Amino acid sequence: MKIAFADARLPSKGALAVMVLEGGKLTSSAKSLDKSSDGALSRAIKAGRFDGKAGQTLWVFAPAGLDKLSILLLGMGAPKSLDIMALRKAGGALARAANAEGFAELTLMLDAIAGGKLEIADRAAEIGYGARVARYRFDRYLTKEPQEKKPTLEHLSIHMKSAVAARRAFSSIEPVAEAVDFTRNLVSEPGNVIYPETLAKECKKLSELGVDVEVMGEKRLASLGMGALLGVGQGSARESQLVVMQWNGSTKSAQPLAFIGKGVTFDTGGISIKPSAGMQDMKWDMGGAGAVIGAMHALAGRKAKVNAVGVVGLVENMPSGTAQRPGDIVRSMSGQTIEVLNTDAEGRLVLADALWYTQDRFKPQFMIDLATLTGAIMVALGQVYGGLYASDDKLAKQLAAAGETVDELLWRMPLADAYDKQLESPAADMANISAGRWGGSITAAQFLQRFTNDVPWAHLDIAGVAWSEKGKAPMAKGSTAFGVQLLDRFVRDNYE
Ligand code: BES
Ligand code: MN
Ligand code: ZN
Repeated sequence: MKIAFADARLPSKGALAVMVLEGGKLTSSAKSLDKSSDGALSRAIKAGRFDGKAGQTLWVFAPAGLDKLSILLLGMGAPKSLDIMALRKAGGALARAANAEGFAELTLMLDAIAGGKLEIADRAAEIGYGARVARYRFDRYLTKEPQEKKPTLEHLSIHMKSAVAARRAFSSIEPVAEAVDFTRNLVSEPGNVIYPETLAKECKKLSELGVDVEVMGEKRLASLGMGALLGVGQGSARESQLVVMQWNGSTKSAQPLAFIGKGVTFDTGGISIKPSAGMQDMKWDMGGAGAVIGAMHALAGRKAKVNAVGVVGLVENMPSGTAQRPGDIVRSMSGQTIEVLNTDAEGRLVLADALWYTQDRFKPQFMIDLATLTGAIMVALGQVYGGLYASDDKLAKQLAAAGETVDELLWRMPLADAYDKQLESPAADMANISAGRWGGSITAAQFLQRFTNDVPWAHLDIAGVAWSEKGKAPMAKGSTAFGVQLLDRFVRDNYE
């Protein structure tokens, strides 16, 4: 979908959106259309429920005096509430309204609105961004869908003062929208299409953006001593992979920021097999890796002035004659041994080696891992907040703040020795699950911390937020690409 910014001239035909503020207050373009149509817009507002609240839309088709125009009233709410998310949601509402009526082109008159923090150029860019991410759907396998069910909007033109500045502002965020869509595709693809080697191939595409991409197969991982990661993949017919993506956008030779992702392309649970109901959801058990890949895509796409490395451990967790057994003891790259009491607690095994490798090779400023790690975090936080664990308060604050800005919410959870102790095993340095029933997301985080070698670290347990059955405006249902916008914002606000 194409988003364009042009001068503030009023078109005389086609689909045209104008903004209405809380209380039904018309902006200047809306006023002028109201006048030319002898009050058709004010009458429409009076006649129904629409009163300019954020998210509301109302079509007024071909009013007398303007019969070549289909006018969309777009509710913007109160001027002071016009922050990034309000504007993105307004953009999403625009896209939905255009699709509902089958328009391929839509023009928005972006009038100046006094109040609110953002400049008009940024407002325009954020509206465009919202429309752009709202347009996405995963429909590549719907071969029989009737035309009228498909989204139609292809061109959004935003007419305004300072279109040049808006174009510039949009060019710094459009690459993030592209990255979000890239991730949503990866996460939505089923396990027969996306498995470790094909996901690694997708990572390779980032080299077109200037990212240095290395793919390592099982032989290499074995020589590195990654027994924990390899144990998870050993039951699969697909070869496990570790992918390293480097973006060096800083002129200084600064230590990189490191992002690490859990990429279990399908999680059956292994020999500790999951119940069949809902198992199909485990195609998105690579959501952490998807977020890391997307974040690297975004940083490179907008040429962020930062050095960053993304490391994703890609495995398929299958039960088979070669699969790892409950009770197996594996040796991780760190040298620590792990008794695998439950083969379904596999994400932490993958991350153990990916984290250790990352700090060992790159000596990063800090490490942030993302993983659909535990059902327990869903019990704790539902599908609203992702779980945030950190060994470093500054990192935790920066991540939570970035999440607030882009509406990818994080709630900090505790780490403590008393949880760590629950990982003790009589047979190895640790077990991969805790002895007790409770606090399963916390003990998983404690497990990870043992592989950070005291490098400042944060862990995002995104099991509850990587997928949205209903969707969350401006995003439609399905993969949320949770983490892509958050990490981009986190870097933008603190490290450039
Ligand atoms: N991938 C799952 C966690 C998960 C569950 C993500 C539901 C999204 C939705 C993870 O590998 C897992 O199976 N975790 C187990 C750990 C347990 C065996 C200690 C869990 O949470 O049940
Ligand atoms: Mn599992
Ligand atoms: Zn898993």
